[in-house]
Amino acid sequence: MMEVNKPVELSSSPPDKPKLMEGGNYIREGRDSSKSTWLLFSPASPDAAGDLARFLGIFSGHGVNLSHIESRSSARRPGYEFMVECEHGIGDFGAALADLKKDVGYLNIISRNYKDNRSAVPWFPRRIRDLDRFANQILSYGSELDSDHPGFTDPEYRARRKYFADIAYNYRHGQPLPHVNYSKEEVATWGAIFEKLTELYPTHACREHNHVFQLLIENCGYRADNIPQLEDVSNFLKDCTGFTLRPVAGLLSSRDFLAGLAFRVFHSTQYIRHHSRPFYTPEPDVCHELLGHAPLFADPAFAQFSQEIGLASLGAPDDYIEKLATCFWFTVEFGLCRQDGQLKAFGAGLLSSFGELQYSLSDKPELRDFEPEQTGVQKYPITEYQPVYFVANSFEDAKDKMIKFSHTIPRDFSVRYNPYTQSIDILDSPRQMKVLLKGIHQEMEELLNAMEKLE
Ligand SMILES: [Fe+2]
Repeated sequence: MMEVNKPVELSSSPPDKPKLMEGGNYIREGRDSSKSTWLLFSPASPDAAGDLARFLGIFSGHGVNLSHIESRSSARRPGYEFMVECEHGIGDFGAALADLKKDVGYLNIISRNYKDNRSAVPWFPRRIRDLDRFANQILSYGSELDSDHPGFTDPEYRARRKYFADIAYNYRHGQPLPHVNYSKEEVATWGAIFEKLTELYPTHACREHNHVFQLLIENCGYRADNIPQLEDVSNFLKDCTGFTLRPVAGLLSSRDFLAGLAFRVFHSTQYIRHHSRPFYTPEPDVCHELLGHAPLFADPAFAQFSQEIGLASLGAPDDYIEKLATCFWFTVEFGLCRQDGQLKAFGAGLLSSFGELQYSLSDKPELRDFEPEQTGVQKYPITEYQPVYFVANSFEDAKDKMIKFSHTIPRDFSVRYNPYTQSIDILDSPRQMKVLLKGIHQEMEELLNAMEKLE
């Protein structure tokens, strides 16, 4: 597929006007660029007045443009740290970097353009609103259909797809998810799929899916004659596990898609497949997302497992991203599990396909135990039923295996999700470990206290 190179406007404010962002971060945002380098640094002497002005002087002195400037309280050392995005091709970046090195106590080069610098860590989102930065770097826009797509010759359907793609394209973090009035024809397509699949769920789906599905019927308008709204489902998931849905205008790269999971954000389509073939879709649609994916994101163990894949992907080299995406494919998309001695489906690709759901639990496909090391290198077809499925003992077990696998990824730092700030903490200094240990110590004391009260 061709990559769509659309310029991405990150902020409605002009690039040269700084603004104070929520949380006290001083931030200036401009156009996104794959040809830029991100730097994270802190001054050698903490709390020195005029640090920011001096550092900015180094960059401007060498003619280097900064498209992003951010300062925050440092987790590594007392005082502040700064994160900047330097544009390439303008000014003498090397000279600016050399001068900066003389003046800082800590410097980390976090390059977004991995191909430019193999030793650097690929860029990854640090805060949940950073997801806006890649949401529109999609591999194909939702309205661009292949010639063999069932809706290719239907101008009305193509216009509808553009409508949905535009909704997602204009969406920004924090906004309410747009409600959609689905047409009678669209609801009928949903209804046909809903009726067929819900016949199979009691015998074929895992118990967690069946449990949550009933709650979705009660709380989110899951019915044959109604396509649920993403916002209602997202709010429901948020109450259960903190997961949220975010509309997506097209196909994201594996790296970007997995990064969303680190923040418990699932990028979801909102359009529906073409009515001429209700039991076939060449790409994920709202039926796949809401019937297949959404229920399990309400399960705490499954949510944790999915987030672990996302956290493992942050800053991982390309070959590991491929392994993680393959693990995602064989679990979240096409996973099977054993429950009470019976094989059940939990993958969304199965739970949204009447045919493959039955096939996957028949004696035709080959079954193997889920082991990330092996599962991550398994080849698979994308246009036909899977010849091989991987079986998880439980979501807890799959999560533990993913965590162990993530330790084999060559990264010289660890990451931890901070749910209070919805951001990623990078653990690469003894000071941060101490803070973390103190927090764990405090939690242990609270638990001990609670146990004593019970006794
Ligand atoms: Fe999916």
